[in-house]
Amino acid sequence: MSDGGTARASAFERGGARKAAEGLGHLSGFGNEHSSEAVPGALPEGRNSPQRAPLGLYAEQLSGTAFTEPRAHNRRSWLYRIRPSAAHPAFTRTGNGAIRSAPFNQTVPDPNRLRWSPLPAPAEGTDFLAGLWTLGGNGDVTQRAGMAVHLYHANTSMDRVFSDADGELLIVPEEGGLVLRTEFGLLHVEPGHIALIPRGVRFRVELLDDVARGYVCENYGAAFRLPDLGPIGANGLANARDFRAPVAAYEDVERPVEVVNKFCGNLWSATYGHSPLDVVAWHGNHVPYAYDLRRFNVMGTISYDHPDPSVFTVLTAPSDTPGLAGVDFVVFAPRWLVGEDTFRPPYFHRNVMSEYMGLIEGAYDAKAEGFVPGGGSLHNMMSAHGPDRETFEKASAAELRPQKIDDGLAFMFETRWPVSLTPQAARAEHLQQRYDDVWQGIERHFRTR
Ligand SMILES: [Fe+2]
Repeated sequence: MSDGGTARASAFERGGARKAAEGLGHLSGFGNEHSSEAVPGALPEGRNSPQRAPLGLYAEQLSGTAFTEPRAHNRRSWLYRIRPSAAHPAFTRTGNGAIRSAPFNQTVPDPNRLRWSPLPAPAEGTDFLAGLWTLGGNGDVTQRAGMAVHLYHANTSMDRVFSDADGELLIVPEEGGLVLRTEFGLLHVEPGHIALIPRGVRFRVELLDDVARGYVCENYGAAFRLPDLGPIGANGLANARDFRAPVAAYEDVERPVEVVNKFCGNLWSATYGHSPLDVVAWHGNHVPYAYDLRRFNVMGTISYDHPDPSVFTVLTAPSDTPGLAGVDFVVFAPRWLVGEDTFRPPYFHRNVMSEYMGLIEGAYDAKAEGFVPGGGSLHNMMSAHGPDRETFEKASAAELRPQKIDDGLAFMFETRWPVSLTPQAARAEHLQQRYDDVWQGIERHFRTR
């Protein structure tokens, strides 16, 4: 992690930081045409780009989709800021640290089932950006297709500002609260929440605890959206009203600020003479948002058998093929199991989709041990997996009373293409060497009568 963090105390004093974070206002809803102004009168009325924007601000559009994409999926916002984003010096290449990007072609794609323990502790002074560590992914950043799986482990708030031109960042905290200070305002997330930073949006990650650890899905493709509900009806799964967007908040700061931009797989840096988080008002639907996974309205059987885990989809990033996601974000949230004459843990299966799973807290009902918070597993295309031996034996003999699963919060990034590993993930000391053993010793029970 050669970048190192430019360590500096958070603008939030740690003591009062959580209290301030908990008091943050927000706007409710997913994909809404939101608007917000930190100073009354900062937002133009009736037009986007008046001859002179209010309060001497500069008007600027940020497009997350092509201008001409269908209205239902079009994402853009208008920002009213102290200086236009164009007022910046040249970017120069800086070290990529442990961040890698697609195409991932430095290792041979591995058909084996793989599992990692948590990342080792970072060096002192590691901020979120320096603490990002890429496990692998698929696609190609220059084609805006595919995804990457990253983990992060940080112990210092960012002083610099980051933006990712290559994709949106779905952040899944596992340890430590975060304040995401974005161009659109501040978001507060704790473990069990998710945050999404759209493509190109500048932000800074500030820590509310001594350590912050978690997962990031970098989605190079079409933006995450809520899945269609079909016969489920008009409500359920992640309800749109539970998504939180920030209210406008700006920094009027004149000092050197390092701004790092991820572009086509590399990090580029420039030092501005001011903070680019200087948006006083904005409106639009290309916005950061947060969501509490415990609000997920879990659907499941009330008769027999499991629905497929697609019923646990929180957000889906579609591909050009209907129903085939570039990546789905799926949560295994607390729920009741009531199926009659049903093997209740996740069934054995082989899947054309590739599955990276992580654990936010507790335990997962298909694995008795070894799958721990902060760790993760990868079951690539067509690899056979399912409950481990101990889980299978127990579940096959269990009395089928209604059972509450409430001791864990697991999630999955499920993607249409195999996940190829970075060399650092393939050779990591925290890659578990004997994961296959969990399926060894599964007994033969076959009989002809
Ligand atoms: Fe699976």
